Amino acid sequence: MDAKDAERAYPERLDEPGREWLRRKPFGHAPDETARLLIDAALIVSLLELHAGTSLCELGCGSGWLSRLFARHGVRAVGYDISPAMIEIAREEAAREGLAEAVRYEVADMEELVTDEQFDACLLYDALHHSARPQLVLRSARRALRPGGRLLISEPNWMHRFGGRSAAQEHGVTEAGYSPRRLKRLLRDAGFGEIERLHRARRSVFGNRPLDVARHLGGPLVVRALAPFWAETWLRARAA
Ligand SMILES: C[S@@+](CC[C@H](N)C(=O)[O-])C[C@H]1O[C@@H](n2cnc3c(N)ncnc32)[C@H](O)[C@@H]1O
Repeated sequence: MDAKDAERAYPERLDEPGREWLRRKPFGHAPDETARLLIDAALIVSLLELHAGTSLCELGCGSGWLSRLFARHGVRAVGYDISPAMIEIAREEAAREGLAEAVRYEVADMEELVTDEQFDACLLYDALHHSARPQLVLRSARRALRPGGRLLISEPNWMHRFGGRSAAQEHGVTEAGYSPRRLKRLLRDAGFGEIERLHRARRSVFGNRPLDVARHLGGPLVVRALAPFWAETWLRARAA
């Protein structure tokens, strides 16, 4: 089985709790993990300036939880994923949540996607490292966007190429890890400008204890300092 077939088959290889997590994502996990995902969703709304009526394409949407959340906000979202089983879950959950008319899901390979419309915004959330050819994915994203449209990428750190090895061996899927520098170059080559690297600092609520205040003030500096080895990669760019 090649890596793409493994991506397609992944949901079927999971046990029942794993499939249940796909259905319920972002809910039903440990509080910190659910909170992290919900905060990421809020950051995406802000960074992509998602208004009611904005059109959004999500590449590698998985079970489609982000697109469904944004559809509730009035966004016209289309989610694409290579796995028919993922898309089936996404469609079933949309129907269950009464969003079948508001959000669309399609099976598609993000390395060679040609969409039937040009979108205001495009999202690649935790998906690009599942492709061994990120340059093709970024070209798909550029084709999918209208001139001036915004792309947001959220990815694990480049060291995921080591950290993801066991998952790659176990499931046969691609678990790459791309440096921000490489992604910025690929973004320029694909026809993007105004490329910004963003740092996601975690603690935004703090108490009165001196240690809490120190963590709150110092946290962003630590994230910035450790960015090359530890922090997630968030990049925002504009289609030229
Ligand atoms: C780690 S999951 C993330 C899914 C989703 N973005 C989320 O946050 O739940 C990566 C997803 O990328 C999809 N994927 C892998 N290769 C792909 C490709 N070539 N085209 C489209 N989707 C792909 C997988 O099927 C999987 O759903």
